[in-house]
Amino acid sequence: MSYLLHIDSSSLAEASISRQVAQSFREGWDGKVVYRDLAAAPVPHLNAAGITARITDPAQHTYEQAAEAALQDELIEEFLGASAYLFTVPMYNLSMPSVFKAWLDQVMVFGRTFKPAPAAGRPAVLISARGGSYAPGAPNHGLDYVVPATEAVLGRPDQLGLDVATVVPELTMAPHSPTLAELLPKHEASMTDAHDRARQLAATMATAAAA
Ligand SMILES: Cc1cc2nc3c(=O)[nH]c(=O)nc-3n(C[C@H](O)[C@H](O)[C@H](O)COP(=O)(O)O)c2cc1C
Repeated sequence: MSYLLHIDSSSLAEASISRQVAQSFREGWDGKVVYRDLAAAPVPHLNAAGITARITDPAQHTYEQAAEAALQDELIEEFLGASAYLFTVPMYNLSMPSVFKAWLDQVMVFGRTFKPAPAAGRPAVLISARGGSYAPGAPNHGLDYVVPATEAVLGRPDQLGLDVATVVPELTMAPHSPTLAELLPKHEASMTDAHDRARQLAATMATAAAA
């Protein structure tokens, strides 16, 4: 039986808004789940042995290449074994947490996970909390380099090709910063929307999985 692959990358554990919204999704998902917490157990950065192992006959691998290839095999097998995905990728310095990027670099292997993309068309939910707002009309609009980049790698047909739905809880710093106090109502509305949307997506994906 296949499973939902749930990958968290916020360093904030239970205090993470992305993780809390993901929990709303999980409450509506009663199928099997394989869980990976990249903050608690980061995967190593892709190194020279890992890159060269991809273009070297396994029979010729050095000890280091064999170890790096084994790690990639484990992560790729876990990725390809899933039938649905839940990723939490909050905004860190306008971009994605480095632990998530490290996981992507290990899993994105030409000819195995993309070009061709065996997971193409499988549903995925991407949850990306951020302290401010990058929505149209906000002063920082256009500076979100998390969601566009992550959606591209996860969703483009020439990349992993997943069918990605994105949920963005924003202004999460509003309750903690007096200068953002006037944005508190917008933050609260965004939180309600994010949790509702996560529940709806779980229901839609669970129905599709059962069909
Ligand atoms: C290292 C770091 C960098 C951050 N950079 C930004 C940023 O560039 N823009 C922003 O709006 N918020 C930024 N924040 C705030 C987080 O996006 C915000 O706390 C968000 O809720 C984090 O997601 P999480 O609650 O799921 O952990 C940053 C937080 C951390 C810890």
